[in-house]
Amino acid sequence: MRIIKAKDYDDMSRKAANIMASVITLDPSCTLGLATGSTPIGLYKNLIAAYENGNLDFSKVHSINLDEYKGLSGDNDQSYRYFMNHNLFDYVNIDKANTNVPNGLEPDSDKACEAYNEIIHAAGGIDIQLLGLGRNGHIGFNEPCDHFPKETHCVDLTASTIDANKRFFEKEEDVPRQAYTMGIQTIMQAKKVLLVASGADKADALAKTIEGPVTPEVPASILQFHPDVTIVADEAALSLV
Ligand code: GLP
Repeated sequence: MRIIKAKDYDDMSRKAANIMASVITLDPSCTLGLATGSTPIGLYKNLIAAYENGNLDFSKVHSINLDEYKGLSGDNDQSYRYFMNHNLFDYVNIDKANTNVPNGLEPDSDKACEAYNEIIHAAGGIDIQLLGLGRNGHIGFNEPCDHFPKETHCVDLTASTIDANKRFFEKEEDVPRQAYTMGIQTIMQAKKVLLVASGADKADALAKTIEGPVTPEVPASILQFHPDVTIVADEAALSLV
Protein backbone atom coordinates (compact mmCIF):
# COMPACT_ATOMS: atom_id res chain seq x y z
CA MET A 1 0.00 0.00 0.00
CA ARG A 2 1.29 3.45 -0.86
CA ILE A 3 0.24 5.92 1.82
CA ILE A 4 0.29 9.61 1.03
CA LYS A 5 -0.17 11.86 4.03
CA ALA A 6 -1.96 15.09 3.22
CA LYS A 7 -2.05 18.13 5.47
CA ASP A 8 -5.80 18.60 5.40
CA TYR A 9 -8.93 17.97 3.32
CA ASP A 10 -7.95 20.39 0.53
CA ASP A 11 -4.46 18.93 0.26
CA MET A 12 -5.93 15.38 0.21
CA SER A 13 -8.39 16.39 -2.52
CA ARG A 14 -5.66 17.94 -4.69
CA LYS A 15 -3.24 15.04 -4.32
CA ALA A 16 -5.90 12.40 -5.00
CA ALA A 17 -7.27 14.35 -8.00
CA ASN A 18 -3.78 14.45 -9.50
CA ILE A 19 -3.60 10.65 -9.35
CA MET A 20 -6.97 10.28 -11.03
CA ALA A 21 -6.13 12.94 -13.62
CA SER A 22 -2.93 11.11 -14.53
CA VAL A 23 -4.92 7.94 -15.29
CA ILE A 24 -7.27 9.91 -17.59
CA THR A 25 -4.36 11.65 -19.29
CA LEU A 26 -2.49 8.40 -19.96
CA ASP A 27 -5.62 6.66 -21.27
CA PRO A 28 -8.38 9.06 -22.37
CA SER A 29 -10.81 6.17 -22.89
CA CYS A 30 -10.26 4.69 -19.45
CA THR A 31 -12.98 3.34 -17.15
CA LEU A 32 -13.16 5.09 -13.81
CA GLY A 33 -14.71 3.45 -10.77
CA LEU A 34 -16.34 6.32 -8.91
CA ALA A 35 -17.51 6.86 -5.34
CA THR A 36 -19.91 9.13 -3.50
CA GLY A 37 -19.95 10.50 0.04
CA SER A 38 -18.60 13.81 1.31
CA THR A 39 -14.93 12.80 1.07
CA PRO A 40 -14.51 12.76 -2.75
CA ILE A 41 -16.36 16.07 -3.34
CA GLY A 42 -13.13 18.10 -3.19
CA LEU A 43 -11.39 15.66 -5.52
CA TYR A 44 -14.23 16.07 -8.04
CA LYS A 45 -13.94 19.88 -7.73
CA ASN A 46 -10.27 19.61 -8.66
CA LEU A 47 -11.11 17.42 -11.68
CA ILE A 48 -13.72 19.98 -12.79
CA ALA A 49 -11.14 22.77 -12.45
CA ALA A 50 -8.64 20.77 -14.52
CA TYR A 51 -11.32 20.26 -17.19
CA GLU A 52 -12.22 23.96 -17.20
CA ASN A 53 -8.55 24.86 -17.60
CA GLY A 54 -8.36 22.62 -20.65
CA ASN A 55 -6.13 20.07 -18.94
CA LEU A 56 -8.55 17.13 -18.86
CA ASP A 57 -10.85 15.62 -21.46
CA PHE A 58 -13.66 13.31 -20.35
CA SER A 59 -15.21 12.82 -23.80
CA LYS A 60 -14.13 9.19 -24.08
CA VAL A 61 -14.12 8.33 -20.37
CA HIS A 62 -16.50 5.66 -19.04
CA SER A 63 -17.49 5.40 -15.40
CA ILE A 64 -18.95 2.80 -13.09
CA ASN A 65 -20.13 3.87 -9.65
CA LEU A 66 -19.85 1.76 -6.56
CA ASP A 67 -23.37 1.84 -5.22
CA GLU A 68 -26.89 3.23 -5.03
CA TYR A 69 -29.64 3.29 -2.44
CA LYS A 70 -32.41 0.81 -3.21
CA GLY A 71 -35.69 2.61 -3.76
CA LEU A 72 -34.34 6.03 -4.78
CA SER A 73 -34.71 7.37 -8.31
CA GLY A 74 -31.92 9.30 -10.02
CA ASP A 75 -33.98 12.48 -9.57
CA ASN A 76 -34.07 12.11 -5.80
CA ASP A 77 -31.48 14.53 -4.41
CA GLN A 78 -30.23 11.84 -2.00
CA SER A 79 -29.59 9.29 -4.72
CA TYR A 80 -26.03 8.61 -5.76
CA ARG A 81 -26.96 9.19 -9.44
CA TYR A 82 -28.07 12.69 -8.47
CA PHE A 83 -24.86 13.16 -6.46
CA MET A 84 -22.67 12.21 -9.43
CA ASN A 85 -24.55 14.46 -11.84
CA HIS A 86 -24.34 17.41 -9.47
CA ASN A 87 -20.81 16.95 -8.23
CA LEU A 88 -19.07 15.93 -11.45
CA PHE A 89 -20.90 14.81 -14.58
CA ASP A 90 -22.84 18.06 -15.20
CA TYR A 91 -19.61 20.06 -15.14
CA VAL A 92 -17.32 18.07 -17.45
CA ASN A 93 -17.64 16.79 -21.01
CA ILE A 94 -18.38 13.19 -20.06
CA ASP A 95 -21.12 11.51 -22.15
CA LYS A 96 -23.76 10.58 -19.55
CA ALA A 97 -24.58 7.48 -21.63
CA ASN A 98 -21.12 6.25 -20.63
CA THR A 99 -21.76 6.69 -16.89
CA ASN A 100 -23.20 3.89 -14.79
CA VAL A 101 -24.82 3.75 -11.36
CA PRO A 102 -26.89 0.79 -10.11
CA ASN A 103 -30.58 1.19 -10.82
CA GLY A 104 -32.08 2.03 -7.42
CA LEU A 105 -35.59 1.88 -8.84
CA GLU A 106 -35.35 -1.80 -9.80
CA PRO A 107 -37.25 -3.50 -6.96
CA ASP A 108 -36.05 -6.97 -7.91
CA SER A 109 -32.62 -7.19 -6.28
CA ASP A 110 -31.44 -10.14 -8.38
CA LYS A 111 -32.35 -8.33 -11.58
CA ALA A 112 -30.70 -5.07 -10.49
CA CYS A 113 -27.49 -6.80 -9.43
CA GLU A 114 -27.26 -9.04 -12.50
CA ALA A 115 -27.78 -6.05 -14.79
CA TYR A 116 -25.00 -4.16 -13.03
CA ASN A 117 -22.63 -7.13 -13.17
CA GLU A 118 -23.23 -7.31 -16.91
CA ILE A 119 -22.31 -3.64 -17.26
CA ILE A 120 -19.13 -4.21 -15.23
CA HIS A 121 -18.13 -7.27 -17.28
CA ALA A 122 -18.86 -5.52 -20.58
CA ALA A 123 -16.64 -2.61 -19.54
CA GLY A 124 -13.71 -5.02 -19.51
CA GLY A 125 -12.16 -3.85 -16.27
CA ILE A 126 -11.89 -0.75 -14.12
CA ASP A 127 -8.67 1.21 -14.55
CA ILE A 128 -8.84 3.05 -11.25
CA GLN A 129 -11.37 2.53 -8.47
CA LEU A 130 -11.93 5.47 -6.16
CA LEU A 131 -13.08 4.59 -2.64
CA GLY A 132 -14.16 6.48 0.43
CA LEU A 133 -14.16 4.76 3.79
CA GLY A 134 -17.10 4.14 6.10
CA ARG A 135 -16.59 4.75 9.83
CA ASN A 136 -17.00 0.99 10.28
CA GLY A 137 -14.49 0.20 7.52
CA HIS A 138 -17.02 -0.31 4.75
CA ILE A 139 -16.15 0.33 1.11
CA GLY A 140 -18.94 1.05 -1.34
CA PHE A 141 -21.77 -0.35 0.77
CA ASN A 142 -19.92 -3.56 1.62
CA GLU A 143 -20.74 -3.59 5.30
CA PRO A 144 -18.86 -5.61 7.94
CA CYS A 145 -20.01 -9.22 7.74
CA ASP A 146 -18.66 -12.78 7.90
CA HIS A 147 -17.43 -13.03 4.30
CA PHE A 148 -16.28 -10.87 1.40
CA PRO A 149 -19.16 -10.64 -1.12
CA LYS A 150 -17.88 -11.06 -4.68
CA GLU A 151 -20.09 -9.19 -7.10
CA THR A 152 -22.93 -6.68 -7.02
CA HIS A 153 -25.40 -7.49 -4.26
CA CYS A 154 -28.15 -5.97 -2.17
CA VAL A 155 -27.15 -5.10 1.40
CA ASP A 156 -29.00 -4.22 4.56
CA LEU A 157 -27.31 -1.09 5.83
CA THR A 158 -25.92 -1.24 9.36
CA ALA A 159 -27.10 1.03 12.16
CA SER A 160 -23.69 2.77 12.06
CA THR A 161 -24.04 3.58 8.35
CA ILE A 162 -27.64 4.75 8.70
CA ASP A 163 -26.51 6.96 11.57
CA ALA A 164 -23.54 8.34 9.57
CA ASN A 165 -25.65 9.07 6.49
CA LYS A 166 -28.74 10.51 8.20
CA ARG A 167 -27.13 13.99 8.10
CA PHE A 168 -27.98 14.12 4.38
CA PHE A 169 -31.68 13.33 4.91
CA GLU A 170 -34.44 15.30 6.58
CA LYS A 171 -35.12 12.55 9.14
CA GLU A 172 -33.41 9.30 10.03
CA GLU A 173 -36.54 7.39 8.89
CA ASP A 174 -35.91 8.69 5.37
CA VAL A 175 -32.54 6.92 5.05
CA PRO A 176 -33.09 3.86 2.85
CA ARG A 177 -32.43 0.61 4.70
CA GLN A 178 -30.97 -1.21 1.70
CA ALA A 179 -28.55 -0.51 -1.12
CA TYR A 180 -27.07 -2.13 -4.20
CA THR A 181 -23.30 -2.24 -4.11
CA MET A 182 -20.43 -3.46 -6.21
CA GLY A 183 -18.80 -6.48 -4.57
CA ILE A 184 -15.36 -6.83 -3.05
CA GLN A 185 -14.03 -9.07 -5.82
CA THR A 186 -14.94 -6.46 -8.43
CA ILE A 187 -13.19 -3.77 -6.40
CA MET A 188 -10.13 -6.01 -6.01
CA GLN A 189 -10.03 -6.62 -9.78
CA ALA A 190 -9.60 -2.89 -10.52
CA LYS A 191 -6.12 -2.21 -11.88
CA LYS A 192 -5.54 0.56 -9.35
CA VAL A 193 -7.36 1.49 -6.17
CA LEU A 194 -7.35 5.02 -4.74
CA LEU A 195 -8.80 5.39 -1.24
CA VAL A 196 -9.39 8.82 0.24
CA ALA A 197 -10.04 9.52 3.91
CA SER A 198 -10.28 12.71 5.93
CA GLY A 199 -10.95 13.56 9.55
CA ALA A 200 -10.53 11.99 12.96
CA ASP A 201 -13.77 9.99 12.71
CA LYS A 202 -12.05 7.84 10.06
CA ALA A 203 -8.86 7.27 12.09
CA ASP A 204 -9.91 4.00 13.70
CA ALA A 205 -11.24 2.47 10.46
CA LEU A 206 -8.17 3.64 8.53
CA ALA A 207 -5.73 2.19 11.07
CA LYS A 208 -7.56 -1.15 10.89
CA THR A 209 -7.54 -0.95 7.07
CA ILE A 210 -3.79 -0.42 6.91
CA GLU A 211 -2.46 -2.37 9.88
CA GLY A 212 -5.20 -4.62 11.17
CA PRO A 213 -5.89 -8.24 10.31
CA VAL A 214 -7.53 -8.81 6.92
CA THR A 215 -11.10 -9.61 7.87
CA PRO A 216 -14.59 -9.10 6.41
CA GLU A 217 -15.41 -7.44 9.73
CA VAL A 218 -13.36 -4.53 8.30
CA PRO A 219 -14.11 -4.80 4.57
CA ALA A 220 -11.44 -2.26 3.54
CA SER A 221 -8.71 -4.43 5.14
CA ILE A 222 -8.84 -6.67 2.04
CA LEU A 223 -7.04 -3.87 0.20
CA GLN A 224 -3.82 -5.02 1.90
CA PHE A 225 -3.88 -7.83 -0.70
CA HIS A 226 -4.30 -5.53 -3.72
CA PRO A 227 -1.08 -4.96 -5.69
CA ASP A 228 -1.66 -1.27 -6.50
CA VAL A 229 -3.43 0.67 -3.75
CA THR A 230 -2.82 4.30 -2.94
CA ILE A 231 -4.31 5.80 0.19
CA VAL A 232 -4.44 9.57 0.34
CA ALA A 233 -5.48 10.66 3.81
CA ASP A 234 -5.08 13.74 5.92
CA GLU A 235 -3.21 13.93 9.22
CA ALA A 236 -6.36 13.55 11.30
CA ALA A 237 -7.41 10.37 9.48
CA LEU A 238 -3.90 8.95 9.81
CA SER A 239 -3.55 9.88 13.49
CA LEU A 240 -3.80 6.27 14.73
CA VAL A 241 -1.39 4.76 12.19
C1 GLP B 1 -21.39 5.95 2.10
C2 GLP B 1 -20.92 5.41 0.75
C3 GLP B 1 -19.46 5.05 0.77
C4 GLP B 1 -18.66 6.18 1.40
C5 GLP B 1 -19.09 6.36 2.82
C6 GLP B 1 -18.31 7.42 3.56
O1 GLP B 1 -21.80 4.97 2.97
N1 GLP B 1 -21.66 4.29 0.32
O2 GLP B 1 -19.03 4.79 -0.56
O3 GLP B 1 -17.29 5.89 1.33
O4 GLP B 1 -20.46 6.75 2.80
O5 GLP B 1 -18.85 8.67 3.30
P1 GLP B 1 -18.18 10.03 3.69
O6 GLP B 1 -17.11 10.26 2.66
O7 GLP B 1 -19.29 11.04 3.57
O8 GLP B 1 -17.65 9.91 5.06
